[in-house]
Amino acid sequence: MDVLEAIMTRRSIRSYTGEIIKEEDLRIILQAGFQAPSAHNFEPREYVVISDRDTIERIAGFHKYAQMLPKAGCGIVVCGDQTKQSEMGFLVEDCSASIQNMLLASHGLGLGAVWCGLYSVKKLTDAMADILRLPDHIIPIGMVVVGVRDREKDAVDRYDESKIHFDRWREE
Ligand SMILES: Cc1cc2nc3c(=O)[nH]c(=O)nc-3n(C[C@H](O)[C@H](O)[C@H](O)COP(=O)(O)O)c2cc1C
Repeated sequence: MDVLEAIMTRRSIRSYTGEIIKEEDLRIILQAGFQAPSAHNFEPREYVVISDRDTIERIAGFHKYAQMLPKAGCGIVVCGDQTKQSEMGFLVEDCSASIQNMLLASHGLGLGAVWCGLYSVKKLTDAMADILRLPDHIIPIGMVVVGVRDREKDAVDRYDESKIHFDRWREE
């Protein structure tokens, strides 16, 4: 799939067949995550791949908006390493860029994926850090849930010229 087609047609997929994704697809998705830009090129990201049933159920137990995880069968928790990037804003941006790359790669491979937020809700980051036994300097930022999608979803056109400003902000 062409990169522009992937960007324009990607949707959050929360409904899956229950089949396990192929190992080579998982590797490509992770490679795409690593290819994302990072501030100062520090690459402060770490990835925890989750496929263990018990861990999956425990995550679905605390994350109200990750109820699709058990059927998807795979989650990739993207974490920021504070010893490599101490500016929290950059750490979140670096991990977010990586998450978006993985969403696009999943879509390009014909799989279904959705971003599940963690960082902005302390009780979610705390619960995830506890379950994954993360050291204190490793901050879980977000999770990509990925699986074999059971249907396609229509693309949406969100382009809005009224939100584009050339050279300066115009009120009219
Ligand atoms: C930071 C962030 C956190 C999100 N968290 C969740 C989540 O916890 N669960 C979920 O189902 N979708 C989550 N989403 C996906 C959004 O709901 C989705 O991107 C949005 O509704 C637009 O739909 P689309 O991705 O199909 O274009 C999140 C998206 C972002 C960017």
